[in-house]
Amino acid sequence: MRARPEPRVRLRPMSEEEFRAAVVQGIARHAADRVRRGWWSARAARSASRRDFAQLLPNGRKTPHRHFLAVTDARTGARVGETWYLAERKGGLPQFWIDWLWIDPEHRRRGYARAVLRQLAEEAARRGASRVGLNVLADNRPALALYAQLGYRPTAHHLAAPVGPTRSRRPSAGRRGSRAPGPPRSRRRARASRSRS
Ligand SMILES: CC(C)(COP(=O)(O)OP(=O)(O)OC[C@H]1O[C@@H](n2cnc3c(N)ncnc32)[C@H](O)[C@@H]1OP(=O)(O)O)[C@@H](O)C(=O)NCCC(=O)NCCS
Repeated sequence: MRARPEPRVRLRPMSEEEFRAAVVQGIARHAADRVRRGWWSARAARSASRRDFAQLLPNGRKTPHRHFLAVTDARTGARVGETWYLAERKGGLPQFWIDWLWIDPEHRRRGYARAVLRQLAEEAARRGASRVGLNVLADNRPALALYAQLGYRPTAHHLAAPVGPTRSRRPSAGRRGSRAPGPPRSRRRARASRSRS
């Protein structure tokens, strides 16, 4: 079987209309993601997501150092996704950060994201950056596999532990299904029968 050739992509600035649509969809996706993970309530998610976007893009498309690009197939011209990045000088050195990468579901697993990341790496090098950074959630397996394939390695870990009564409360004695802390029942039974014999 012949391997499918790697697609070539062209990255072009989004139009104002594309940008507005991207923000509306981005707010909805960001909210839905957090509701699915149980981090936000369905009722408050939209407004929380809007707030995050307002912080990230205080001047919309004109937010300094941010670039909003449509991803198109260089051969057919079809639009297949979008990406945003931040390029700025900070700490005396050029920095390059990918804020967002999205390939439309019907165009996935054809190598578009890989081609986009390669182009963005070239752009970062042209701007004098020594590396490309991004955030990815720990349960986003497709994205993790993609980034690992291209040599991205973790540089930070966000940690979280469950807290609160439902997680930390010990079942009280006598309640159905509860048991005192200690070894599992099977081991306790075995110990009891050993001491009886
Ligand atoms: C993650 C995403 C950008 C990948 O886009 P894509 O164009 O389908 O990725 P590619 O076809 O270039 O895949 C390149 C490699 O990534 C990995 N990969 C991509 N999708 C995968 C999946 N669903 N499962 C496992 N590995 C996957 C594979 O290693 C793949 O290489 P292979 O096809 O040779 O095995 C796309 O799924 C997407 O837009 N998801 C929603 C938004 C998102 O999560 N963005 C990243 C946020 S950090």
